[in-house]
Amino acid sequence: NACDIEGRGFTEEQEALVVKSWSVMKSNAGELGLKFFFKIFEIAPSAQKLFSFLRDSNVPLEQNPKLKPHAMSVFLMTCESAVQLRKSGKVTVRESSLKKLGAAHFKYGVVNEHFEVAKFALLETIKEAVGEMWSAEMKNAWGEAYDHLVAAIKSQMKPAD
Ligand code: HEM
Repeated sequence: NACDIEGRGFTEEQEALVVKSWSVMKSNAGELGLKFFFKIFEIAPSAQKLFSFLRDSNVPLEQNPKLKPHAMSVFLMTCESAVQLRKSGKVTVRESSLKKLGAAHFKYGVVNEHFEVAKFALLETIKEAVGEMWSAEMKNAWGEAYDHLVAAIKSQMKPAD
């Protein structure tokens, strides 16, 4: 109900803001993904060392074939989370993939600060990509979807069993 402390949850308007902005970004998702991760590494250079495929590689960052896919997963899964949040009030990544995700981020040493820097970088990247379409509400909608997704990943951040 409207007086609920939790508020109304993730709304249809919020979902629409995420989906609408994603639809203008997705044709350029590879480029945006690189931009997104460059922002992360600019703020937190040490985060590069977490990625085995960056550590073990001598090609320049922007030519590394594995960086884009990770960046795209973050974008895509955040967008999907917005849809799930509106439908069911929670993030519903398949249990097995969520376990895998949690275990991988645990294993590679991803910590809270990384998720925070990534949130900032994600929102900046979207802001620059959508131009005039950007608004406080849009920022909020993406931020909320990201927070819920990260909370789900963190809940599974423990050694794989
Ligand atoms: C691996 C998604 C945030 C660092 C992965 C994988 C996926 C993924 C799908 C592959 C997992 C596997 O191997 O099974 C996501 C999502 C995120 C997120 C959805 C946020 C919502 C981050 C952040 C960092 C990070 C913030 C650090 C800055 C890594 C690393 C790996 C990984 C180091 C392992 C890469 C390797 O194989 O060396 N992530 N990620 N992730 N992620 Fe993320």
